[in-house]
Amino acid sequence: PRLSEILNLHDFEAVARQVMPDKAWAYYSSAADDEITHRENHAAFHRIWFRPRILRDVTKVDWSTRILGHQSSMPVYITATALGKLGHPDGELNLTRAAAKHGLIQMIPTLASCSFDEIVDAADAAQVLFFQLYVNKDRSITKRIVEHAEARGIKALFITVDAPQLGRREKDMRQKFDAEDPSEVSKAGQGNVDRSQGAARAISSFIDPGLQWADLDWFRRITKMPLILKGVQCWEDALEAYDRGLAGVVLSNHGGRQLDFARSGVEVLAEVVAQLKERRGLKFPNEKFQLFVDGGVRRATDVIKAVALGATAVGIGRPFLYAYSSYGPDGIDKALQILHDEFEMNMRLLGARTIAEIVPEMVDASNIHTH
Ligand code: FNR
Repeated sequence: PRLSEILNLHDFEAVARQVMPDKAWAYYSSAADDEITHRENHAAFHRIWFRPRILRDVTKVDWSTRILGHQSSMPVYITATALGKLGHPDGELNLTRAAAKHGLIQMIPTLASCSFDEIVDAADAAQVLFFQLYVNKDRSITKRIVEHAEARGIKALFITVDAPQLGRREKDMRQKFDAEDPSEVSKAGQGNVDRSQGAARAISSFIDPGLQWADLDWFRRITKMPLILKGVQCWEDALEAYDRGLAGVVLSNHGGRQLDFARSGVEVLAEVVAQLKERRGLKFPNEKFQLFVDGGVRRATDVIKAVALGATAVGIGRPFLYAYSSYGPDGIDKALQILHDEFEMNMRLLGARTIAEIVPEMVDASNIHTH
């Protein structure tokens, strides 16, 4: 289909499935085991309903916001996804350029296809970038990566904590990872590369399964960047992160690619907000401890629901990969334009003129447990 026929973010997935090379499609679309969590991620949003307000002057609506103190044109950021060149020769740079054009923040992955410096160099001088970190068994490598990221102006460090071992993504495992492929991760093989079990396994053997809470003190010493844990899945760990002085947590199951039967991020959000209110008197959204959600976000209404429940912003992964893999830079541009259009219309229909006006009373989340 022509790009003008694409009406929503789901459409990109359907096109990508048809036009992407098998190996790339398998890596981007795959999820763990029976992919139950992957399916649940988007479905969970269907259990939350709106309670719109009427007769407010909604001529002007503004969905811009601040994420960790930085301006963003919407409460959305581009989350970290590895191996950007599997889908398009420019890889992650497609995302960097689109982020500049649309005033969004991009989270650069440790396992990008383009080198870290290539991505930072492609960004505008004023553009805000975050960095996603996989922690290496060899801490001297991690230290070097973190210090370099800070020196290059990265504004926040998202430490992935839901992947002590990569999940079993069988669709991906059926496609062997070809080390000769130019889309191989930049500086791949931070350790021995086993190509027999797909791209994910091949590039992830350096990740330290021994990572623990006490290691966060070490991170605190080596960097001034705000630290956020990516992949928190219950209130107990969110509370621990808060008590240890972190800047926030991403309630995420890694797009369903890690533990199958992990709950959706938006479901975890509801319990985290309830429990941290009860136990620490916190109110969300909160400047000092920010909550993020990712997984299955495909519509501005999904984003609005998460914001109403207390999230500062949400991450979107696959739809942007599918968009640029199918249509190049115009695809990702269109994806973001669609989101902006959806924000304008849905905020009007909801009676919220600003992000601050999207309040908990505007959703009925009574189908979701708060434990
Ligand atoms: C990811 N994700 C991810 N997360 C991370 O911390 N480090 C990584 O290297 C990757 N790589 C990666 C590759 C691909 C192809 C996907 C689809 C995802 C997880 C990602 O940051 C995020 O949690 C999910 O993608 C969000 O779900 P949606 O938006 O893809 O449904």
